[in-house]
Amino acid sequence: MKKRYVVTVDGPAGSGKSTVSRMLASGLSYVYLDTGALYRALALKVSVAGLDADDRVGIAALCSATDIALFECEGATRILLDGRDVTELIRTPEISMLASTVSALPEVRQRLLAVQREAARSGGIVAEGRDMGTVVFPGADVKFFLTAGPEERSRRRWLELRARGHEVSLDEVLRDVVRRDRQDSERVIAPLRPSEDGVLVDSTGKTIDEVVQEMLGAVRGKASKAL
Ligand code: DC
Repeated sequence: MKKRYVVTVDGPAGSGKSTVSRMLASGLSYVYLDTGALYRALALKVSVAGLDADDRVGIAALCSATDIALFECEGATRILLDGRDVTELIRTPEISMLASTVSALPEVRQRLLAVQREAARSGGIVAEGRDMGTVVFPGADVKFFLTAGPEERSRRRWLELRARGHEVSLDEVLRDVVRRDRQDSERVIAPLRPSEDGVLVDSTGKTIDEVVQEMLGAVRGKASKAL
């Protein structure tokens, strides 16, 4: 594959986007862009600053005074917030929910747009999030929308959180996942929804490998048609 594509992967919480996107990027020798981590980092800053999630003026001011950068370290993406590595701190249930809430604010989305587009400037990227194919990269070469039933997504999230030492019940996770889906899909700006020209991939009952192979096949199929 000569041309270095922009590949987008959107989908709801717990759909397996991160794992699958990272593996897809590695299979294509592309860069992996985790845009949720950018929203999470801003949410962490809002939380540490003690701002209310609906304090639009305060959050807008905070956005313009924030430096966020992603970098690769030993095959994993790490995130720097104002120069501090916050990779682990942003993976809590509280920050998940706050990220979903503050991501509905136009100032927050605008602040992160340039960071995302800059990362994809030379192509060769798998960008993962909620609005990659619809808003951030409408001209992307291949667009995926990855989904799975809410029970399966919650179970995956619950296992992930437990592995990181968070004591939460499966019911709590299911409640959070459903609430976050609703918040992410019903917001006015850049709501979570499949792009009309995208490929829908349902991962319910499939292994990660099966899903990645299906997606790799779609990207390679596009490349071979372009020859
Ligand atoms: O993918 P994630 O769970 O790390 O994302 C956390 C929240 O950030 C998610 O609930 C909504 C928001 N988000 C967004 O609005 N747009 C994106 N491109 C990525 C994440």
